[in-house]
Amino acid sequence: MTIVEQPLGVQLAESCIPVLETERLVLRAPRIEDIPAVAALANNHKIAEMTANLPYPYRLSDARAFVETLAQTPDAATFALFLKNEGEQALVGMCGFGRRPPEPVHEIGYWIGEPFWGRGIATEAMRAVIDYVFSETDIDLLAGAARVVNPGSRRVLEKCAFQWSGVGLCRVRALSASVPVDRFQLERRTWASLRAWGSTAMPMQRARAH
Ligand SMILES: CC(C)(COP(=O)(O)OP(=O)(O)OC[C@H]1O[C@@H](n2cnc3c(N)ncnc32)[C@H](O)[C@@H]1OP(=O)(O)O)[C@@H](O)C(=O)NCCC(=O)NCCS
Repeated sequence: MTIVEQPLGVQLAESCIPVLETERLVLRAPRIEDIPAVAALANNHKIAEMTANLPYPYRLSDARAFVETLAQTPDAATFALFLKNEGEQALVGMCGFGRRPPEPVHEIGYWIGEPFWGRGIATEAMRAVIDYVFSETDIDLLAGAARVVNPGSRRVLEKCAFQWSGVGLCRVRALSASVPVDRFQLERRTWASLRAWGSTAMPMQRARAH
């Protein structure tokens, strides 16, 4: 994950969070000009039924309200995701982290537009957000949740090193109902250990070098 320097003159909400860059993605604060693309991708019951807060149908006015009321603080950030090689306006999804008082723990969230599923985008984006949280903030614990009927999301959390911590119920706005979820957690010290592990050579490579 690379943190890109912000140009002078970015909007206030944007200036609170950096632009992150991965191999294939740019992650930045959602802007007014993203509203049509956000509405087009998010207006999907398959996404709404798996997330807590997205309405369905998802209208332009919902996208506008979402972008205009975002609270970007050092403690909470939302990133719009763009594929680098598919044109400047190629929004592919949304992700972020934040804390919903009185909950003590920061939670991550994400959705990817259906045409872009199955390409590793959620995993790549969430790894960048996790690296950002643990390297640039003092947050020590991240939580995530996936509906028990959402193995794809569960897999994303596992690929990001989250560990299962229990079950619970989560209110889904689009269903006007609470549904069972699996809960997951990732501690800073686990993340730090995995990052250090990744930088050591595999034993076979080390043996060959001698
Ligand atoms: C879940 C979601 C974020 C995944 O996005 P994505 O970019 O396709 O995810 P990735 O490609 O990074 O990883 C998906 C993983 O789940 C696996 N997967 C997908 N569907 C699966 C299924 N039905 N059963 C088992 N595994 C499944 C994929 O094979 C992949 O794992 P792998 O790399 O080990 O093969 C996306 O489908 C989405 O936005 N869904 C609707 C909203 C949502 O669920 N948000 C999360 C709320 S908790």
